Amino acid sequence: MTEAAKQLGGRDREPLVLTPMMLMAPRPDGVEAIWAVSRTSLGRVESETADGRRQMHACDPHGFTPQGDAILRVRVAGFAPGAAARLRPITTAADDGETVTGAWKPFRALDPAAAVTRFAVWNDTHRHDDTIRQLHRVTPVEDFLVWNGDTCNNWDDAAVLIPTLLHPGGCDISAGRPVCLLWGNHDVRGPQAFRMPGLVATPEGRPFYAFRSGPVAVICLHTGEDKPDDHPSFHGRAAFDALRKEQAAWLAEVIRRPEMRTAPYRVVFCHLPLRWTDEGPQDYAGDGYDRFSAGSRALWHDLLVAWRTQVVVSGHTHRSTWIPPTADWPYAQLVGGGPELERASWIEVTADGAALRLCQRNLAGEILHDLNFSPLPPG
Ligand SMILES: [Fe+2]
Repeated sequence: MTEAAKQLGGRDREPLVLTPMMLMAPRPDGVEAIWAVSRTSLGRVESETADGRRQMHACDPHGFTPQGDAILRVRVAGFAPGAAARLRPITTAADDGETVTGAWKPFRALDPAAAVTRFAVWNDTHRHDDTIRQLHRVTPVEDFLVWNGDTCNNWDDAAVLIPTLLHPGGCDISAGRPVCLLWGNHDVRGPQAFRMPGLVATPEGRPFYAFRSGPVAVICLHTGEDKPDDHPSFHGRAAFDALRKEQAAWLAEVIRRPEMRTAPYRVVFCHLPLRWTDEGPQDYAGDGYDRFSAGSRALWHDLLVAWRTQVVVSGHTHRSTWIPPTADWPYAQLVGGGPELERASWIEVTADGAALRLCQRNLAGEILHDLNFSPLPPG
């Protein structure tokens, strides 16, 4: 086993392939596949579309066959929007040529023109394997799964990266539906957090992105830490003021894209809420921390209002909460529950020509919030 695989959570005397192939960051033309290996390997993904066309995806952005000593990443492209396909990973060890061909996995490319979309949202799983297994059991397999941050409890130990992100709770969470991951404040915390981008795909390689699925336009943002960047507990590792500013400039451009400004429904995901029930100041010198991201909101609010954002969906507070829109705050705020079985929640989002519905349930199946939004008039 390579040192890198050991560091990231692989174990000695394990097979060449350590995790299922995780499908992340769906796009209208494809997706990215990521999996873990125990020693230096080459990775390829074979696809077969519904019309029987087979294709091998085996080129990284620099012209290499995708390679790695712990993680393999393959960008799968060339599909038509909404195309149904199946994908399988092919792993070849660099030392002895051992080759492992994985099982086929169904995939459907994003379809910005679809009449209907359905997807699910998780948040704040924090390595609670029992909760993840229950969420995985009850969440329907739909267009994609949004994993809205705080996958971990601080990255102090690099060995938990692979099991936490690529095989959470021992579940193949991207079976039948790709995953859109957002960064929470715990995902950026700890001396090993800088390694996380190596195991996470996003459409453009940045931790903020936007896409359209049927009638819903989605913007995913990174709210950063829940204390100022210069807080001593971060040991100089946090630089989120700059990232929030960069996202403001990006937002100003992205909300003008045709598929974003014509969407009947507009949803923002970000880990820290942008509104909260008690917005009083925090004592950062003591044990204070942000319940909502005032710094993000100051930079993004006007742009989110200009875009006519209907709802911001967050986690972070571990308390299922609904804050309706007001004249001053025209976007609603929905917050998911916590990592414990009794506090966990998940949201099913469905949208068609008549309505956008966000239905939040707990693990007992009880409905916590059932919200309906009318389509926005054009303009
Ligand atoms: Fe959390």
